Amino acid sequence: MTFDEKMASQFLAGMRPFPVAITTVHEGRTNGLMSLSAGAAGIIPEAPRMTISITKYNFSHDLVLASGVFAVHLLGSAPDLLQRSLTILTTLGGSSGRDGDKLATLETKPGMTGVPLLLDALSYVEGRVVRTLDAEENTIFLADVVGAGILHEGGRLYIGEAWRSLPPEWVSTYEANHHAQVDDCRRQRGLLS
Ligand SMILES: Cc1cc2nc3c(=O)[nH]c(=O)nc-3n(C[C@H](O)[C@H](O)[C@H](O)COP(=O)(O)O)c2cc1C
Repeated sequence: MTFDEKMASQFLAGMRPFPVAITTVHEGRTNGLMSLSAGAAGIIPEAPRMTISITKYNFSHDLVLASGVFAVHLLGSAPDLLQRSLTILTTLGGSSGRDGDKLATLETKPGMTGVPLLLDALSYVEGRVVRTLDAEENTIFLADVVGAGILHEGGRLYIGEAWRSLPPEWVSTYEANHHAQVDDCRRQRGLLS
């Protein structure tokens, strides 16, 4: 049976409207990355859970796997916050922590699990991993939410607005570099030798 893969990709992209910044720490080494795959993972209001999915290609994957703690931040779209949101996005999403300390230029404070919380983010939830699913090209982390906070007022940044507001040169470089990550995922799934 065949199906329209492009349509499926568009459908799934439509279910991931918000870019989030994920941060973590392991044995004093902090890092973070951008993600579109965070979500709620339970319906019990007094025991909330969330999931994130990180490809094995990314340094943050190894740190979250080792430490079992992370924070997920929504970014703001209000005029006073938009530029700071884009700075977080380009800083965490444009290079790997393997090549240097990405959080050095961002303002942070430690959360209750020790993870760095991004002070220019709109809001955050912080969690401790309770289960992991090895999904070949990535790991899906299920976490108990153990902390949450609102850092600024205003609306959330949607991914469409983010792509429209980012410098076109940054987007071109990101897209060019992203091929290596997608190919690594294909290899992990046996779709590329
Ligand atoms: C908008 C956006 C969404 C992203 N979504 C994901 C994602 O869901 N999972 C993932 O592993 N990487 C995702 N990435 C890629 C990582 O953020 C990127 O590869 C980052 O440089 C990894 O950094 P690290 O090696 O320091 O962990 C996304 C990047 C952007 C810009």
